[in-house]
Amino acid sequence: EGVEQTELETVAFTVEDGIAWVSFNRAEKRNCMSPRLNRQMMRVLDELEFRDDVGVLVLTGEGTAWTAGMDLKEYFRETEVLGLKGTRNAQRESYGWWRRLRWYQKPTIAMVNGWCFGGGYGPLFACDLAFAAEEAQFGLSEINWGILPGGGAAKVAVELTSFRNAMYHSLMGENVDGRKAAEWGFVNEALPLAQLKDRVTEVAKVLLTKNPVALKATKDAIRRVREMTYDNAEDYLVRAQEAANSYDNQGRKEGIKQFIDDKSYKPGLGAYDK
Ligand code: ACO
Repeated sequence: EGVEQTELETVAFTVEDGIAWVSFNRAEKRNCMSPRLNRQMMRVLDELEFRDDVGVLVLTGEGTAWTAGMDLKEYFRETEVLGLKGTRNAQRESYGWWRRLRWYQKPTIAMVNGWCFGGGYGPLFACDLAFAAEEAQFGLSEINWGILPGGGAAKVAVELTSFRNAMYHSLMGENVDGRKAAEWGFVNEALPLAQLKDRVTEVAKVLLTKNPVALKATKDAIRRVREMTYDNAEDYLVRAQEAANSYDNQGRKEGIKQFIDDKSYKPGLGAYDK
């Protein structure tokens, strides 16, 4: 109370055994996203993206929240007084890091430890995988304070869950817990909070064993083909693989060799030895 948090402090991170643990770090404000946090998050993503010691990025939150959405005071009220320019600038900063995260070089995991509201659906969808605490609460609370689920949140809802679920969720402003969020497709799995970090670590460790060029090509492919016809997707995938070959000529050849010649692993049961 009384001591202002600096912009740098709005996001915390550590890198350990190939995993970058990045957290929303405004626990006392339930990690809601202010313009300062949005700017700092972009810097942190920048700093980590091409580091050799980072193979997977996990996005989580300090305290009881993952993120309570946009900061109603600093993101809405204090930027609106600057006119359209202020609003557009704040939007660019938040949408900007979410977009950056959607197409991040490394695979990303949302570790949803608590509250996830409104604007939080942007980074939730931006992460490739998502695991939630059963105790977490997800809500499109926009309707509860008088706006529509903007900043992509409505789009995220219909991308991840059914039309009926999305409509009910956004019109009623009623939260779902982690378990329901998994059932609806907002996250891959829900676990008791006490087990969440272990499970996410386990998943991250598996990703770290895979070919990094193939991981990037695969995550982009899954996002891109969603909106393509079958034939366009087929063509995109041929070209994407051929482009990936130019970054990593040896990887897949080694993968074939270790299976066909060395018989040292089976691709159906795990990854080749990098
Ligand atoms: N914007 C601004 N301040 C916020 C936000 C937010 N989104 N969320 C929490 N805070 C602040 C509170 O004002 C409070 O500040 P104070 O300590 O200076 O009084 C502090 O964070 C703690 O919040 P509490 O409400 O006291 O925490 P509690 O644990 O009781 O409740 C909850 C948590 C349910 C998340 C509640 O804070 C809340 O409803 N937040 C708003 C959630 C929301 O609707 N977000 C907007 C979604 S729409 C969009 O993102 C476009």
